[in-house]
Amino acid sequence: MVEIVKILFISLFIITLTAFSGCTDKTTEQAGQGKIYIVGTEPYFPPFEYADENNSNKIVGFDVDLINAIAADQGFRVQWKDLEFDALIPALQSGQIDIIASGMTITDEHEKVVDFTEPYINAGLALAVAADNEEIKSIDDLKGKVAAVQQGSTGSQAAEKLKAEGKIGNIIYLAHVNDIILNIQNGRADFMINDLPVTNAYISKHPGVIKIVDDKLQSESYGFAVKSGNNELLNMLNTGLENVKQDGTYDEIMAKYF
Ligand code: ARG
Repeated sequence: MVEIVKILFISLFIITLTAFSGCTDKTTEQAGQGKIYIVGTEPYFPPFEYADENNSNKIVGFDVDLINAIAADQGFRVQWKDLEFDALIPALQSGQIDIIASGMTITDEHEKVVDFTEPYINAGLALAVAADNEEIKSIDDLKGKVAAVQQGSTGSQAAEKLKAEGKIGNIIYLAHVNDIILNIQNGRADFMINDLPVTNAYISKHPGVIKIVDDKLQSESYGFAVKSGNNELLNMLNTGLENVKQDGTYDEIMAKYF
């Protein structure tokens, strides 16, 4: 009799344990539920996307926080993929990634091949030179001067336009903003055309290297991009963006990075 009671108790104990662990499993599943979307970015573009100072494998920044907030609002999960900037649109078209979040400017040219969300921030292009450059004071002083730009960026298009008009010399195309700055420092390039918020962030972090001579070369807005016709995802991003703007999350992210 005692044995039977013992067995009964043990069985009950096991059943209860199983039931509870079952519960725990469910909760974790629920917390991590939602479809996973792959977000492509070129993460050398602070303050929008860059490696965390304490963990270089982790991408942080304005775009990262904003996409994460939208994902939480819309109940999907994201996985980040590091690509060169000019590889992002091909990766989106081939289905390697689902979303581009990379400080990408909404342009007519890009709009022909991808779909953009509503603009999520205003930006623009700035002309910058070495901090000790006394020669270049405006866009009119660039004749014959060498430009350094990011491959595939609106900065590179602006430089190409100036070159076609005979207003500048050669153009050096580089993969990352850091390489652009390096070319200015070592004198291989005379000036750079890059996104104003990124150039400003560089200057406040590394004073005395470069200076801005024109901060209104062109005004722009950034959007997140999805594959043309992916309306389901586009709607989720737009609704999420609207919601995080309404509930104050957007302003918090803004205050954190700017
Ligand atoms: N806004 C510019 C463009 O769309 C440059 C963006 C570069 N972004 C980056 N993460 N490197 O062409």
